Amino acid sequence: MADLSTTFVGIKTPNPFWLASAPPTDKAYNVVRAFEAGWGGVVWKTLGEDPAVVNVSGPRYTTLLSHDRRVMGFNNIELITDRPLDLNLREITQVKRDWPDRAMVVSLMVPCNEASWKRILPMVEDTGADGIELNFGCPHGMSERGMGAAVGQVPEYIQMVTEWCKHYSRMPVIVKLTPNITDIRQPAMAAVRGGADAVSLINTINSIMGVDPYSLTMVPSTGGMGSHGGYCGPAVKPIALNMVAEIARTAETAGIPISGIGGVGTWRDALDFIALGAGTVQVCTAAMVHGFKIVQDMADGLGNYMDEMGFTSVDQIVGRAVPTVTDWKFLNLNHVSKAVIDQDKCIECGRCHVVCEDTSHQAITAKKDGVRHFEVKEEECVGCNLCVSVCPVEGAINLRSLMPGELDLRTGEPVKAEPLNWTAHPNNPMAEVNQRATSEAAPA
Ligand SMILES: Cc1cc2nc3c(=O)[nH]c(=O)nc-3n(C[C@H](O)[C@H](O)[C@H](O)COP(=O)(O)O)c2cc1C
Ligand code: SF4
Ligand code: SF4
Repeated sequence: MADLSTTFVGIKTPNPFWLASAPPTDKAYNVVRAFEAGWGGVVWKTLGEDPAVVNVSGPRYTTLLSHDRRVMGFNNIELITDRPLDLNLREITQVKRDWPDRAMVVSLMVPCNEASWKRILPMVEDTGADGIELNFGCPHGMSERGMGAAVGQVPEYIQMVTEWCKHYSRMPVIVKLTPNITDIRQPAMAAVRGGADAVSLINTINSIMGVDPYSLTMVPSTGGMGSHGGYCGPAVKPIALNMVAEIARTAETAGIPISGIGGVGTWRDALDFIALGAGTVQVCTAAMVHGFKIVQDMADGLGNYMDEMGFTSVDQIVGRAVPTVTDWKFLNLNHVSKAVIDQDKCIECGRCHVVCEDTSHQAITAKKDGVRHFEVKEEECVGCNLCVSVCPVEGAINLRSLMPGELDLRTGEPVKAEPLNWTAHPNNPMAEVNQRATSEAAPA
């Protein structure tokens, strides 16, 4: 089977699957069980200064469930480790000694002053850990104290703390970014300017899970009062993927190693992150929901995929999809797709008709010759993909790309072979200016 071992910021790891800094990596007992199950590395639950923080003794976690009770989203109001610093450091030292081939990265969050960072860094270095991850992401509790997301939302602070860490430590520095910002490129650039060896993302997203309908109090509540938490799990994966891809395709940040986090639970999730630029992936919710053994399926799945595709190392996949990500304005507006229903697979549930009729382009029939029948009216279909997205039968509806020259029944025009994007489109008032700029910039 394919070799899954990889090296990330100089840290060798037998596979790219790491546990993210969170309850699964809170103590030696868990981490040893994780390594026994096959995880390639861990980011130890965030350490802070003594005296340790205090967590609520009440519901810290809440889930958003699908109708079949699968966890789609996961909310928490937990803080960083609530165990003494010295205990954590001793356990990290021992576990790293016992498991030298696994990646041991230590997550850190101390007050935003040089003395605090200068004090803790040598202590972590003495454990033999392979690297540190700076937690600039926790959106609740710690951020109110000027740490976590409060640092991650200010690029100048990110740069400053990263510089301190590079100055006072020899360990590789991974900067963990918060998604609770408008433009992920800004903090990522600050991390690069500060000398970070890598970035990891995402941490959790600000969230409130809901309200109890009878007491009309926010849930979860601690004695009747609630506070916003951090959201993660499968629901956040698309948000995380976009942020990873933004960093991978932006000139100022392209090339910085990325550890992808957010909703990873299967090898397919991991592949999405890797192909969009991540060298490793980190997992929290899926391990908390299903246990550590999921890593075995993840490793088998990725290995089988690599064998099938002829990849011999994970590095060969890293960033392969990045060149396919672009800005909307560069999409080909001459491309035409149409939905097509496979009548052999269709179970005639009618869902595609309802959604297209009510909210899209009235492009699917409900009847033919007085009998229930679902068929795409190509003269109306704009290829929006809504019907494909809601159909309960895989493969019953697909989108088909029209070939150049083929008649588009909606416009009555043949599909043009030459691509045309918005920058040059005649409906764009700026098109001429754009074209002039392009032709002036072109070599003679
Ligand atoms: C209960 C819980 C506690 C967490 N604690 C930390 C933490 O101490 N430090 C940190 O950097 N991230 C922490 N996280 C965030 C995770 O490391 C991770 O970034 C996030 O959960 C997204 O990954 P996921 O979708 O696989 O859960 C925590 C997440 C959860 C659910
Ligand atoms: S949603 Fe799918 S299965 Fe249902 S009628 Fe449409 S094509 Fe057939
Ligand atoms: S692709 Fe969109 S417009 Fe076409 S049939 Fe499906 S829902 Fe209707």
